Amino acid sequence: AVITFTAGSVYAVDTLAEIQKRGVLRVGMEPGYMPFELTNQKGEIIGFDVDMAKRIAKAMGVKLELVSTAWDGIIPALLTGKFDMIMSGMTLTQERNMTINFATPYILIGQTILLKKELAGEVKSYKDLNNAKYTVASKLGTTGEQATKRMIPKAKYISYETEQEGVIELVNGKIDAFVYDMPFNAIAFSQKGKGKIVFLDKPFTKEPLAWGIRKADPDFLNWLNNFMNQIKYDGVYDKIYNKWFKD
Ligand code: ARG
Repeated sequence: AVITFTAGSVYAVDTLAEIQKRGVLRVGMEPGYMPFELTNQKGEIIGFDVDMAKRIAKAMGVKLELVSTAWDGIIPALLTGKFDMIMSGMTLTQERNMTINFATPYILIGQTILLKKELAGEVKSYKDLNNAKYTVASKLGTTGEQATKRMIPKAKYISYETEQEGVIELVNGKIDAFVYDMPFNAIAFSQKGKGKIVFLDKPFTKEPLAWGIRKADPDFLNWLNNFMNQIKYDGVYDKIYNKWFKD
């Protein structure tokens, strides 16, 4: 690691200098979370985060390397230097922020519910699911899991390692509801759920998504926040957003 000494002899990590030296920006993400990062039929990782990562690398004048990482270990992998930053639709939570830093959030989302068809009418919101007779699932280590345990505590909770599994198990009637981030559930519903499950699309949490970096890395954080401002002003953000969120 490139270590620079700043005033008061407090040391800081300089990931930005490291990336320039290496000539490669390494971004950690877990594909499978549409529309932020997913694998297409050619086996390439594409998505909203990927397009922004490409822009970042281009602006830095370096190559881009996407490092596919299981969600469960994505923060430890950042901390041990497997990549420079997390761009993986990660919710900025106060708990995670104790361990890593986040750039300015790039989108606001919330938890929504994919519901077993037979429960239409009977379950109208997360509150109605708060009953021991229901089995509610989300994905391991996500804010969907945290929200379910906190806000639907009486239901039986199951976690899956991938969001795809959760949707399949719901469509097959194995669980009563799948709680997950709004954009993912909307796409999963339109691709695999129509006529088979119900989508309760009113988000019941408020979650900013942001890029994660290591702590004590002020120059990298400053670069990323100013990059974010730039693409919000010059239309690049809207262009990428419209590509993935409006079709
Ligand atoms: N926003 C949720 C969280 O931070 C889920 C993100 C999952 N991202 C992914 N690439 N699988 O917990």
